[in-house]
Amino acid sequence: MDKDIDCEWNDERLLGIESIDKEHEQLFLMAKVLHRYMKEKATVSVINIFFGEVVKSAEAHFENEERFMKDKGFPILLLERHIVEHKKLLERLLGLKKKFEKGEITLTDEVAQLLTFLLSGHMQEYDTRIAEFVNK
Ligand SMILES: [Fe+2]
Ligand SMILES: [Fe+2]
Repeated sequence: MDKDIDCEWNDERLLGIESIDKEHEQLFLMAKVLHRYMKEKATVSVINIFFGEVVKSAEAHFENEERFMKDKGFPILLLERHIVEHKKLLERLLGLKKKFEKGEITLTDEVAQLLTFLLSGHMQEYDTRIAEFVNK
């Protein structure tokens, strides 16, 4: 897994919803910084702290996004499914963070790639539906 493509933020990822787009870009930037830290072999404690920040930002973003969907009257079944996906994603991110803290993950480069992959996959599959709904 050695492509940088998934780590780059680009305008194709924009949903056209400013508050959500800003947070998505921020999450991408954070994943990219994490990726760089790992490449530059930053100390484990620095990466741990930063990983914690990424998880916190993701959690805050999911809450904001869920509130936005509720406020806009997003269909309840789709909203519930989206919330379940956020929970799963957060669990996976927390799982990665814990593994890293315990020293169980050594291929750190792949961890950062996976993080971005998880985020971009969710954005593409689920968050684009928010834009479809508000723009219809
Ligand atoms: Fe989402
Ligand atoms: Fe999102």
